[in-house]
Amino acid sequence: MIGIDLNRRPIAEDIVLEVDNLTVSFPTEDGLVKAVRGVTYQLRRGESLGIVGESGSGKSVTSLALMGLLPRSARITGSARFRGEELLGKSDAEMSKVRGNKVAMIFQDPLTSLNPVYKVGKQIAEAVLVHNDVSKKDAWDRAVELLGIVGIPNPEQRVHSYPHEMSGGMRQRVVIAIAMANNPDVMIADEPTTALDVTVQAQVLEALEAARAETGAALVLITHDLGVIAGHADRICVMYAGKLVESGTVDDIFYAPRMPYALGLLGSMPRIDESGRERLTPIVGSPPSLLNLPPGCPFRPRCPLAHEICEQEEPELLNVNGSGHSAACHFSDRLEGMKPGDVFAVTSIDVDTSEVTVAETELSEAELVDGSVDGGPTSHAPLAEPRTTEPGREGLQ
Ligand SMILES: Nc1ncnc2c1ncn2[C@@H]1O[C@H](COP(=O)(O)OP(=O)(O)OP(=O)(O)O)[C@@H](O)[C@H]1O
Ligand code: SF4
Ligand SMILES: [Mg+2]
Repeated sequence: MIGIDLNRRPIAEDIVLEVDNLTVSFPTEDGLVKAVRGVTYQLRRGESLGIVGESGSGKSVTSLALMGLLPRSARITGSARFRGEELLGKSDAEMSKVRGNKVAMIFQDPLTSLNPVYKVGKQIAEAVLVHNDVSKKDAWDRAVELLGIVGIPNPEQRVHSYPHEMSGGMRQRVVIAIAMANNPDVMIADEPTTALDVTVQAQVLEALEAARAETGAALVLITHDLGVIAGHADRICVMYAGKLVESGTVDDIFYAPRMPYALGLLGSMPRIDESGRERLTPIVGSPPSLLNLPPGCPFRPRCPLAHEICEQEEPELLNVNGSGHSAACHFSDRLEGMKPGDVFAVTSIDVDTSEVTVAETELSEAELVDGSVDGGPTSHAPLAEPRTTEPGREGLQ
């Protein structure tokens, strides 16, 4: 990964992309779907930002909005600035100068991005020619070079292949080669590995790293899988019901999450304990409909820690540690030091026999109140005393 000092406050010239209070809603026959509800983040030069959340949480709509790729019916407010230049409201002609040149997007299904009737070399060379005054020969040579950079073996031969002659992982690497063709400042990869098996996923993620190293581009890596992000992001934003509910460095989110949903995502990642049992703490239930969201915290129906205030007030994204770690939970202070099994019920699967055991969470009301988590009686206890709003900046650095 490209080295970034995450403890340093970003200065203006560090910021390549600044999304500020972005909202997107879609009028439908049933009412207004509030798909994105006030998303704010900053992307620094060369950094990798992971955006993670369940299906329908607004990850794609957030990115499509700033790329000008949403249907005209979408109502968009807020701001999305690329190097200080506002992107929202630009015409299609203006946006086409940004797309693929300064900001490139990589989608989940490479077949939708590639033209089946042209050789991949021609498609990469055309991407080079669109924004650069170079000869066709130079563009073709660059296509060969780019295929090599993304790890395609024998690129001199492979440039002559059609998309259908390549595997899914290879096609995705071709799409990454096209994305990097014009040395973009930002690449947005939306679930680039979701349709691929684990080994191929790793190759595609390596290709993205190679593309970052070659171009120095910052990367927004969108996924529903925290595992994908682990080795490939400097910072993580967690989305739920159209909002950012937690953001921080990879260490903040993986080792000190301060919002139950992020904690639950961690607990949903399979891992084997010392006794050879796979311990999971899945989040029960599903995300809310974004039509007529009820008041309060949208995670409340699934949250073992929900208390009265959670029904009334939606928590804001507030700083939790004085640096860049923020969380949206009335009780984030009390989550310090907690593990997924302290909050969510543990499901153990014996790896040898596949026997499934579900245990209750081991957190007692007293422990929740005083913040300690050493054993104690079983309870899905509500918390007392919501945290007070800290002075200081909510949101992201
Ligand atoms: N054109 C549209 N009209 C109405 N609702 C839409 C439209 N596009 C997206 N939505 C809704 O916006 C919400 C957010 O969708 P989005 O595609 O951003 O989710 P996502 O987090 O990317 O999910 P996934 O992981 O499945 O890709 C969803 O509830 C979706 O149904
Ligand atoms: S404790 Fe309350 S505010 Fe925090 S995630 Fe649970 S329901 Fe939301
Ligand atoms: Mg999506």
